[in-house]
Amino acid sequence: MLIAHLTDAHLGLDPGGLVGRIEPAAALRRALAHVRGLGTPADVLLLSGDLTESGADADYQTLRRLFDEELPGHRHHQPRVLAVGGNHDLPLRARQHLADWMPAPDNLPPGLVCVKAEHGGLHFIGLDTVVPGQPHGELGSAQLDWLATTLQSLAGQPVLIFMHHPPMLTGMAAMDDCGLRHGRAELARLIAAHGQVQLVAAGHMHRPILGALGGAPVVVAPSTSHQIELDLNPNAPLAVRLEPPMIGLYRWTPEDGIACHFSHVQAFDGPFPI
Ligand SMILES: [Fe+2]
Repeated sequence: MLIAHLTDAHLGLDPGGLVGRIEPAAALRRALAHVRGLGTPADVLLLSGDLTESGADADYQTLRRLFDEELPGHRHHQPRVLAVGGNHDLPLRARQHLADWMPAPDNLPPGLVCVKAEHGGLHFIGLDTVVPGQPHGELGSAQLDWLATTLQSLAGQPVLIFMHHPPMLTGMAAMDDCGLRHGRAELARLIAAHGQVQLVAAGHMHRPILGALGGAPVVVAPSTSHQIELDLNPNAPLAVRLEPPMIGLYRWTPEDGIACHFSHVQAFDGPFPI
């Protein structure tokens, strides 16, 4: 199975002084065309939040239109698209527009916009880390209890968890300040207890980052649009860096497990046989 991971498209972002250099819709269109052009078609396409800049209806409509134009098979689950909201989204509104991408589990506590789906023998669980009106994320007790029950019901079966705020500290202090503030230790315990979490995939940091939690790898994919400056000085201010965007490409099989690649959207020359 091949999983393409696109995140932090930020449709509707006003680029201010970077107008003409940050173009979220055009960048997402290029990323989707890149997915379409992969030598091996993606089976699943994960969107890990900040789909839009401010949760506007028009921006979710634009998101759907871009998929219709660039990946016309997605309405027939080619690839299967799965999405969660980020701190810039309004997750309930996102679900109104994107219900087929955000399948709701039956037993979910009210107010949470989690996602659950199975594809190709892998169980996808999308967590809702959004705290309304706040840039940071949390996993509260209701969601952790639901996750514990859900993982118990999937005992022995492989799981991929995806979420907006990554459950790790990155050393990018300004971003860690608005990271996942509650629930990381509890999530680590649940992952360790389950023992079959193949990957935790997240966004929010606008950089490619690897980590681990509870014995599972954590991968943070960069934004399809604009990246955050990599500066590990604890006093570093937030800044944008316009690096070539990448998508995550994760190969998973029951026999081989997970292999995480990053693929540049703007193609370089090649491939050249060697
Ligand atoms: Fe973002």
